[in-house]
Amino acid sequence: MTSESLAVSAIARLQAHQQQHKWSLRELFATQADRAVQFSTAAAGLQLDYSKNHLRDDTLQLLLEYAAEIDLSQQIADLFAGANINNTEHRPALHTALRFQGEPRNEHEQAVAACRGQMRRFCEQIHSGSWHGFTGKPIHHIVNIGIGGSDLGPRMVVEALRPWQRDDIRVHFVANIDGADLSDTLAALPAENTLFIVASKSFSTLETRQNALSARQWMLEAGCSDKDLAKHFVAVSSNIVAAQDFGIAAENIFPMWDWVGGRYSLWSAIGLPIALACGYDTYAQLLAGANDMDRHFASAPLADNMPVLMALLHFWYRQCWGASSQVVLPYAQRLAKFPAWLQQLDMESLGKSAARDGQPVDYPTGSVIWGTEGSNGQHSFHQLLHQGTDLIPADFIAVKQPTSKLVEQHQWLLACCISQSQALLRGKTLHEAREELEQQGHTHREVHALAPHKVVPGNRPSNTLIVEKLDPQHLGALLALYEHKVFVGGCLLGINPFDQWGVELGKLLGAGIHAAIGGEVPEDWDGSTRNLLQQLLATND
Ligand code: F6P
Repeated sequence: MTSESLAVSAIARLQAHQQQHKWSLRELFATQADRAVQFSTAAAGLQLDYSKNHLRDDTLQLLLEYAAEIDLSQQIADLFAGANINNTEHRPALHTALRFQGEPRNEHEQAVAACRGQMRRFCEQIHSGSWHGFTGKPIHHIVNIGIGGSDLGPRMVVEALRPWQRDDIRVHFVANIDGADLSDTLAALPAENTLFIVASKSFSTLETRQNALSARQWMLEAGCSDKDLAKHFVAVSSNIVAAQDFGIAAENIFPMWDWVGGRYSLWSAIGLPIALACGYDTYAQLLAGANDMDRHFASAPLADNMPVLMALLHFWYRQCWGASSQVVLPYAQRLAKFPAWLQQLDMESLGKSAARDGQPVDYPTGSVIWGTEGSNGQHSFHQLLHQGTDLIPADFIAVKQPTSKLVEQHQWLLACCISQSQALLRGKTLHEAREELEQQGHTHREVHALAPHKVVPGNRPSNTLIVEKLDPQHLGALLALYEHKVFVGGCLLGINPFDQWGVELGKLLGAGIHAAIGGEVPEDWDGSTRNLLQQLLATND
């Protein structure tokens, strides 16, 4: 049987199970006192409570049967072994090798070890002040120019690890092709103390190339000579030739490899901004935390495997409950950029319409990932979670230890987090709404009119992840957890989560539109595109 037909028949079985699903979350908890214990698991300093899901033993059994049918354990082993699982690009996906611990065991790990040495030495030079800019002064500002996976991961981690940031280095991130991003960032920076990292696996990404060219011009205009540019530009890339052509000295290029996908690359030298901002040892702890999760993922039985359970649950909701989006709610200000990082990881990986063998899939694949830091979201979109008509599974992320000295506020933060998942579970019945209004002294007529508006359906599923502490180690484990969840999502859907051909189309068309500015607009382009080009870009003639 092909992977699609296995998926189709598993989905049919799960849908039949769902049709018989007559229980509510309230009932599940009422009849199973130890539910929170039974449906909890722990790994790498993280705890997952998945008891607030539409899940019974028999549901889990059905999901695990499907995992066995697709030989998920073998697929996980293939990931770690470096099999060519990225079948459309004929490559392995070896981001797990980037966080190996101990002595290198193969050529991939040897390459990683050499790169780590290069990163460590570079950090020492910057931090000790022995790396000098064109006026002989040390570097205090690092500007990372990159986009997508060459931006979102390090940007999110640097913010998350704010207490680990050094005082003498400020790291800035520029991604957007909108010149405002670069110029606003550079406005306050002294060129003589500023170093740019041009981070691009391909070294051909439009946004990064344009920003890097403008940054180079800015540096020259600030008085840096051509010869001294090497003191202000380093690169991270797998395209060494293109980086050198740009003018970056060979010894200042940190390698990347085709066996690391962009959205899985923060563990490579793409993580250089993290090591510069927070110190190399902090970066190494991040890797160690991710490796803890890798070991759990590689060895834990599927029924107790945290990434596997999270992926199975979403498969269940996506295929049988019409869930077309997932919300992620980190109750930690410093994880504010986590949803943006996860969006690329999940949506670029699972937003596919063809199965691994190229056949069109006839079941839904990737879903919309969205969210923001708690408690802010409670005062914007949580209304839709509670009373909207869609079922949107939620991941709550709570950090046990306070992230500031304001301990009482931390208790409130956690109370907010727990109360939101409780509200999603319980909701409020019409009977409860009526009783509440009667107790408030409303007339019979008012109770009748208002009560339906106060009904909150409840019965809405969520996971709660408890992170012991927002430190490098636990953060590494958290990020690796989601990477593996997405990989398992790809296995369950029978798709390749490591390519992104749709993005390539946009890149190609963008170049075509740019080339048409002020020139001939092809007759066969659609009327809207031709019109927009005239309206928006004509003034650039
Ligand atoms: O957005 C598409 C993409 O290819 C991502 O996968 C990647 O992270 C990003 O562009 C940046 O690519 P590069 O590192 O090659 O500049």
